[in-house]
Amino acid sequence: IFGAIDMAPRDPILGITEAFNADTNPQKTNLGVGVYYDDEGKVPLLNCVRKAEEVLMEQRAPRTYLPIEGLASYDKAVQELVFGADSAVIQEKRAVTVQALGGTGALKIGADFLKRFAPDAQVFISDPSWENHRALFESAGFTVNNYTYYDPATHGVNFAGMTAALEAMPRGSIVVLHACCHNPTGADLTAAQWEQVIAIVVARGLVPFLDMAYQGFGSGIAEDGAVVRKFAATGVPLLVSNSFSKSFSLYGERVGALSVVAASHEEAARLLSQLKRIVRTNYSNPPTHGGKVVAAVLTTPELRQLWESELAQMRVRIKEMRDQFVERLKLKAPGRDFEFVRQQVGMFSYSGLTKEQVHRLRDEFSIYAVDTGRICVAALNSKNIERVIDAIAKVL
Ligand code: LMR
Repeated sequence: IFGAIDMAPRDPILGITEAFNADTNPQKTNLGVGVYYDDEGKVPLLNCVRKAEEVLMEQRAPRTYLPIEGLASYDKAVQELVFGADSAVIQEKRAVTVQALGGTGALKIGADFLKRFAPDAQVFISDPSWENHRALFESAGFTVNNYTYYDPATHGVNFAGMTAALEAMPRGSIVVLHACCHNPTGADLTAAQWEQVIAIVVARGLVPFLDMAYQGFGSGIAEDGAVVRKFAATGVPLLVSNSFSKSFSLYGERVGALSVVAASHEEAARLLSQLKRIVRTNYSNPPTHGGKVVAAVLTTPELRQLWESELAQMRVRIKEMRDQFVERLKLKAPGRDFEFVRQQVGMFSYSGLTKEQVHRLRDEFSIYAVDTGRICVAALNSKNIERVIDAIAKVL
């Protein structure tokens, strides 16, 4: 049965890490995957995580199964983070949350759930979007379309194109929106633009699926989450996937969640029962460690404060790297305008580098980026930036 199976292509993002790992050049730099590295080029272990883990280690708790929907204290803390503890959806018990295997796992539970109950709906993702969105919704059985989003000429959002695309979607279509820190472009909507998008989504009866993998990396935790709360306040059916991979630097623990907002508490109970079925038939129930760490940090005031300040430090360092990127490139590549990199938010910049330039960076300098020209600004640091800028100037 295996003889005729073709070789699958490498993953467009994680495949870069595979190639990077195989590169023996000691000066290699990975600007491919969306991972935050500190100024030493290391993935940080946050102090809030370390402290929460110390307490957990002392407890030496047995590793029983978690409930199918995950740790109750985690699901509650996530809901409060995502919607706000005082939000109507929580007060009225209309939101259900299941712990998921990172943001990707949350998207997959949501996709499988939607396919089961809205099998004929079409899915719309931004053009461009995170490389895995299309593959993930297609593998759940959906037809996936693009909606206009990025304007390469301005390096910002083609908002007129986006609203026209939303207006043209069939009722009941599922529209995947990046809540903040758009991946891959780093180009976000303004608050006023979000208001317009929400109005169209509501008026046209679209089903919003908000993907929030980078909360806290744009303007702040509350600011970045504001759009989720605005959507929730409209009362439309809503799905939200969120991830703590980046904001807690817990990549390998696979900690995320899917939240779904229903019309009533009774409806929410039915939705949860169905979400549990999907989890049970995929991986039964989620792992304990990451969920326990995140729940402890979010619900312990000192740890929560520490987390917020550590996340702010990461956010500020990325902004500093954006500034340096622009300033240094101004000197090394005069006549080229990279000012837009300063305006983009989150971990990424859609740099405008062509596929050929990206390949030259890799082949000649061991600097790895996504073929689309997406670079992870969070992988730049005071030690590697000069070399990266020199290389970019050369391939330009
Ligand atoms: C990315 O876009 O690089 C991250 O979200 C990591 C991933 O899973 O692709």
